[in-house]
Amino acid sequence: MTLIEGHRPITPATGIPVWDVNPYDEAILRDPYEYYARLRELGEVVYIPRYSVLAVGRYATTHKIFADHENFLSSRGVGLNDFALEKGWRERSIILEVDPPEHTKTRKVMARVLSPKVMKTMSDLFRDTAERIVDQIIDQGTIEVVADLAEPYPTTVFPQALGMTESNRRYLVDYGAMVFNSVGPDNALRRNSLRNAGEIIPWITAACARERLTEDGMGAMVYADADKGEITHDEAGLLVRSFLSAGVDTTVTGIGNALWCLSQNPGEWDKLKADPTLFRPAFEEVLRYTSPVHTFGRTAGHATEIAGYPVEEGTKILCVLGAANMDPDKWGDPEVFRIDRKPVGHVGFGAGIHGCVGQNLARAELQALLTVMLERIDRIEPAGDPVWRPNNAIRALDKLPLKLIPK
Ligand code: HEM
Repeated sequence: MTLIEGHRPITPATGIPVWDVNPYDEAILRDPYEYYARLRELGEVVYIPRYSVLAVGRYATTHKIFADHENFLSSRGVGLNDFALEKGWRERSIILEVDPPEHTKTRKVMARVLSPKVMKTMSDLFRDTAERIVDQIIDQGTIEVVADLAEPYPTTVFPQALGMTESNRRYLVDYGAMVFNSVGPDNALRRNSLRNAGEIIPWITAACARERLTEDGMGAMVYADADKGEITHDEAGLLVRSFLSAGVDTTVTGIGNALWCLSQNPGEWDKLKADPTLFRPAFEEVLRYTSPVHTFGRTAGHATEIAGYPVEEGTKILCVLGAANMDPDKWGDPEVFRIDRKPVGHVGFGAGIHGCVGQNLARAELQALLTVMLERIDRIEPAGDPVWRPNNAIRALDKLPLKLIPK
């Protein structure tokens, strides 16, 4: 059987609209909003012949598939490769890329380590680092957000919170890009980010070893659960790797996207400055409006259906979270960025049993950084055009020039 991008080609059910589009075209990845709109407009589910996959972008259907882990599996990969047919590029994640009952066990460990209670113990680290980094840039006038803020902040606090004794900003950022580009097809983005895999993967694997971690960080907490017999020590190492896979690029992107939204909407920055308790809904709105993870997939574990259309076993389904988060049927006026919208149910952190287990950490980091900025900076203004960095799963900025006007 000839596979397409590591999965079996399908014959779509009669009536499913066919769309000759490449969702991984770099122009679409840089500016996806028309693609999102067309995908929703075409129907509940669309067939994309180029990769022989189905795609969904309407809110209700996308949410339903993410919430239905019995029919739509993660264990066969959340990208185009079907792990039942082809080996992935790395040993698979034992939380993201497994189903229950395996998932239940590892999820429990991660949820405990990333609980609000544990995050509270890190608030001084998050706040002090935010003050130091903001103080360094505040008098610069114009900054480039990605290089000056969005990358330095998480790559400073995160390794410390995890307890890494040795860190490498470039490797952490490049590993994240590799993980997320790998869920896409074998295109230039994927190939380029995997180019340094030979150098980076051994470094990442070594960094997850117990002896390379301090005794008081989140990594040590994972190993302590292994000591109690909840997981094996090898599994502990793989869970620490999950922190490094999913915890850096996502927060770098979250910070950049938040500052993009707020600089494009000065009235919303002012609202937040006047009432910083709006942080929580503001960040949720950033996630809804920009969907830092724009697309993740599922595999039909057996013959099933989507919106009444039969779906073959083994079908890959692209769940376009970015399109669902901009669905007017759900949000009314999705193209308006409003920090007090309170977009309950957005799928920026996913939905169902795999919903982001790191969301407390993401919020805690963002809150510390934005709070310090709002205390010290009166206004932020665009100082040039933003440049987006195409990635097969992440919608991230490459450059965001911003003028800071201190108080
Ligand atoms: C703005 C920041 C973040 C965004 C937008 C985000 C987004 C997501 C999404 C959409 C999923 C669902 C994947 C799926 O269902 O297939 C997910 C899962 C996950 N995230 Fe996050 N994430 C963020 C930050 C973090 C952080 C800081 C960590 C830190 C450890 C993390 C760790 C994970 C893990 C381990 C999973 C898999 C959970 C499971 O399968 O049960 N994420 N994230």
